[in-house]
Amino acid sequence: MGNTQFDPRPLATERTLDPTRIPAHIAIIMDGNGRWAAARGLPRAAGHRAGLEAVRRTIDACRDCGVRVLTLYAFSTENWRRPADEVAALMRLTGEAVVDEAAELVRGGVHLRLSGDLSALDPTLREQLEQLVALTQPNRNLVLNVAYNYGGRAEIVSALRKLAEEVAAGQLAPGGINETQVNAHLYTSGLPDPDLLIRTGGEQRLSNFLLWQVAYAELYFCDVFWPDFDRTHLLAALADYQHRRRRFGGVEDE
Ligand code: FPP
Repeated sequence: MGNTQFDPRPLATERTLDPTRIPAHIAIIMDGNGRWAAARGLPRAAGHRAGLEAVRRTIDACRDCGVRVLTLYAFSTENWRRPADEVAALMRLTGEAVVDEAAELVRGGVHLRLSGDLSALDPTLREQLEQLVALTQPNRNLVLNVAYNYGGRAEIVSALRKLAEEVAAGQLAPGGINETQVNAHLYTSGLPDPDLLIRTGGEQRLSNFLLWQVAYAELYFCDVFWPDFDRTHLLAALADYQHRRRRFGGVEDE
């Protein structure tokens, strides 16, 4: 026997979860692709490719559980600092995914949204992404919000700049700036805030992800590398979430 700790809670399955307490919005920092690849003597790009399989599994599992919005951190504004061949591999993989996954997203009723500054992307990739957003726009089963060239601080700065422009143009009084106005100018406008933020790969930080939106999210960190993340890991995160008491700064209900 190893030193496995005994967890008295039953293994989470769809049936043991409370269907009335499924998070409407789950956000995921998909970390550990590089270490997964290194552990197998593979190039980092192979880890990202395996990570895409985990993305597919997670979309299916979220849809099956009744999650309404899934936000995935696919490429951060800081990821440009990686070696050029790795950045190129990530962009190539995204382009392939757009082509290969389009039919599956439509079939599954998934609506793709994008959060981030797409102006820095290759124009062809950008056009492919925007076409898939338009194609899946009528879908209602799940919103898949892909954070791409995304940075939380840059997003807030961009929202503040737009609000300042409206004030300068006389369309908005400074006193009219409130949380609703800020929300309306974020990439995630119209989406509920994440209820649950999952980070894989063992690190416990936010890495500039959805800084405004996660104000009251429950945080869940797990050691598994993203390419190994599967339905059982998601169900474990959901079970853990359902044991949390969310108070939003108030007091616990009797
Ligand atoms: C972090 O792992 C992962 C990324 C920076 C990229 C995530 C991309 C995918 C899973 C594939 C593309 C997905 C879509 C939706 C197009 P890391 O490389 O930082 O891992 P490490 O910490 O082990 O080095």
